[in-house]
Amino acid sequence: MYGTIPGVKIVVAGGTGFIGEPLVRRLLALGHEVSVLTRNPDKVPAGRGVKWDGKSQGPWSSVIATADVVINLAGENIADGRWTAERKRQLTDSRTDSARALVAAMKQAKQKRTFINASAVGYYGTRGDEELSEEGSRGTGFLADLTASWEQEAREAEAVSRLVILRFGVVLAGEGGALAKMALPFRLGVGGRVGSGNQWISWIDREDLLRMIEWVIANEAVRGVYNATAPKPVTNREFTAVLARALHRPAIMPAPAFALRLAFGEMADEVLLGGQRVVPSRAVAEGFAFQVPSIEASLRNAFAK
Ligand SMILES: NC(=O)c1ccc[n+]([C@@H]2O[C@H](COP(=O)([O-])OP(=O)(O)OC[C@H]3O[C@@H](n4cnc5c(N)ncnc54)[C@H](OP(=O)(O)O)[C@@H]3O)[C@@H](O)[C@H]2O)c1
Repeated sequence: MYGTIPGVKIVVAGGTGFIGEPLVRRLLALGHEVSVLTRNPDKVPAGRGVKWDGKSQGPWSSVIATADVVINLAGENIADGRWTAERKRQLTDSRTDSARALVAAMKQAKQKRTFINASAVGYYGTRGDEELSEEGSRGTGFLADLTASWEQEAREAEAVSRLVILRFGVVLAGEGGALAKMALPFRLGVGGRVGSGNQWISWIDREDLLRMIEWVIANEAVRGVYNATAPKPVTNREFTAVLARALHRPAIMPAPAFALRLAFGEMADEVLLGGQRVVPSRAVAEGFAFQVPSIEASLRNAFAK
């Protein structure tokens, strides 16, 4: 088992981000050798920075040739800026190009390895109260199209690797990510539910996500698509109440749908007003143990300091 033996050679593309940086630190602490594919090697906070552009082959491919595990988290940030046609193209291309480049580098090398590619629960689109395991069908909308194209590129690695695609829910941690954005109105005393509040939020505590990635690395039998979400998704209404309690702030100002559409455009419908009720059926059935299964525990930890 990889996970129990230190010294595994691991490459993390996008290893400088909200998920990547703590992942790299954790893998280093476990004694693994970690290289980070990045556009700015001078700014890599942890691990050995190796320069790439996220699309073309270059000297970086040699680290892939000797890697036991390749993890792909690279991509332009979904929530940074309005989804104009140009921005949507960047969001999609930065993911499909980087996956394609990694797969091409893996195909050049003879050795078989583990390839973990990020995806997102946006794959399922907005689906009301329907409970969605990994068997759930692809939905509609920009994020469903983006993740489907991303996964399709990653699947090209199946012939040369043990492929695992993780459909991440909203990743929660005390600093950064979606929670920092969601908490801000509450900190200002103007927080409240979003739209009707009935839409589902499939979330995962970042610590559990990092543990799940370790579990994937350690278990050869894990392959294919997994929902990387906590076992209990919540509605926006429930999330709002727990967030307000964790921050000791009121939740009195609902954000109306029309105002969100005005402010965020198309992103409002898919990310804020829409949602999906996703469950981690495969991870649970195959023995992954969540340590932060409730939203109360996750938000309490996030704001404990
Ligand atoms: N955070 C969440 O809640 C969440 C939920 C669902 C899915 N995901 C997915 O999980 C992945 C990691 O998420 P994150 O929150 O850690 O993202 P993040 O903080 O935005 O980091 C993404 C990383 O991708 C690299 N990157 C950005 N634009 C790029 C480009 N044009 N070409 C190549 N690399 C580029 C950056 O590395 P360098 O600047 O060092 O090159 C950056 O460190 C993302 O693909 C995201 O879509 C995240």
